[in-house]
Amino acid sequence: MIGIFDSGSGGLTVLRKMREVPARMAQPGGLSNADVVYFGDIANAPYGSKSHAELSALTVHAIQFLQSRGATSIVSACNSVSASLAISLFDIFSLAPTQLVEMVGPTVAQFRDSEARILLCATPATIQSEIYQQAFQMIGKSITAVPLPELAGAIEFGASREEIKKIVQNGFDDLPLSRFDVLILACTHYPLVREVFEELCEPAGVAVYDPAEAVAARAQSLFAKSEQGSGTTTFCITKDSPSFRARVAELFSRSSVTTEVVK
Ligand code: DGL
Repeated sequence: MIGIFDSGSGGLTVLRKMREVPARMAQPGGLSNADVVYFGDIANAPYGSKSHAELSALTVHAIQFLQSRGATSIVSACNSVSASLAISLFDIFSLAPTQLVEMVGPTVAQFRDSEARILLCATPATIQSEIYQQAFQMIGKSITAVPLPELAGAIEFGASREEIKKIVQNGFDDLPLSRFDVLILACTHYPLVREVFEELCEPAGVAVYDPAEAVAARAQSLFAKSEQGSGTTTFCITKDSPSFRARVAELFSRSSVTTEVVK
């Protein structure tokens, strides 16, 4: 069983890609047949304004929960906790590195041979951890990173399109967008409002990049062989939410899904 976690709805954008394995990666029994348990910690959302210590505790709780439900492969579909996935966690949870996929590595790997000038937007927790800036430095690239403090919460709790647009516009206010080639959406909530980013970026010639496909491809390459099930998805959320249920209905209408509210 694959366990996925996020503060709420953001991880749905990663799960969607895991279920729609791109044709070039398709293998018999890809991740469309895997059984998935999804932990959405809506009671503690948004994660992106929390401290490193708080995020580490929430990460431990999420992994423990998923393991208690039988997950043996884990996808951390939350950029804000990536800096909390320390080496010691692997020992504490008896996880081999091949049993965990997170957001940063697969994303940065996509740009190894690219000359693109990169702008990255994410939550304050992700930007302050400098995890992306350091990972890009390792491949010899310097990036511009911009926090969008209220955006993930606004998306999670169903803010209107105008409110979302205002938040994104304010975040990009002082930025000469035309100096960049690519905008990386380094928060899994952001692809849920991808069209708002496109509306602002496309006139300036900036392409919008969603890391979900690269992360899904990584999960597929590590987990597909061992994860043969019947394609069920169980969503476990720590607080009931009409927006979360609506997104599940929209994105996974043809799958066999159940949603539970858990403590
Ligand atoms: N979707 C998560 C991320 O990728 C968390 C966003 C939040 O809860 O602030 O960072």
